[in-house]
Amino acid sequence: MTTSQHWEKGYQTNPPDEVGWYEPRLETSLRWIRARSLDEDSPIIDVGGGASTLIDDLLAGGYRSITVLDLSRTALAWAKKRLGERASSVTWLEADITFVDPPACHYDLWHDRAVFHFLTHPQQQERYVDNLLKALRPSGRFIIATFSLEAPPSCSGLPVKRYSADESQRTLGSKLRLKKSVKELHVTPGGVEQMYLYGHFQRTA
Ligand SMILES: C[S@@+](CC[C@H](N)C(=O)[O-])C[C@H]1O[C@@H](n2cnc3c(N)ncnc32)[C@H](O)[C@@H]1O
Repeated sequence: MTTSQHWEKGYQTNPPDEVGWYEPRLETSLRWIRARSLDEDSPIIDVGGGASTLIDDLLAGGYRSITVLDLSRTALAWAKKRLGERASSVTWLEADITFVDPPACHYDLWHDRAVFHFLTHPQQQERYVDNLLKALRPSGRFIIATFSLEAPPSCSGLPVKRYSADESQRTLGSKLRLKKSVKELHVTPGGVEQMYLYGHFQRTA
């Protein structure tokens, strides 16, 4: 089974509020995004956004230039259905973030909760970081949530790479600087504890 088939199956088998990573609201993501005081027109991308409700909250917050990218057509369909008419103001991209060719110097903020940690091979991580650096504006921000060292070694049936703050800084390289990090416990609908590491990076070069 390919990676995209794996995710499609997950979203076709479970409603979005029963998948392992479900949170009714991504509070930390939202707080950190709002703290940027971005213009309403500032381009924001949620990479691997799936059917997450972050998009609903960003739209409610007045942000008008939002892109959601995900491998899974079904996940995007769930999100569009939930949003109804509001979905038409969002750019939806069904794609693999390690293979897209993103617009250069475009986004003020790139958000990723629980996607980068599935890239367990250095080449995949390099392709992701290359795309991030291509697409992020100077001084743009990168908000990322990965499994921390305390989390289980797999997530949703796939192996993950777990990160400390130092390791995420090393992996992302010197063109992004970690401004702050925080750990956050997520408990899956099935009761499994997963400690996440949230990191807020600023582009420096
Ligand atoms: C664990 S879920 C997290 C979803 C969402 N970010 C959230 O926090 O609710 C991982 C998501 O990343 C997507 N995904 C996995 N690998 C991807 C890739 N290489 N490119 C784009 N999306 C990917 C999956 O389809 C899935 O929606």
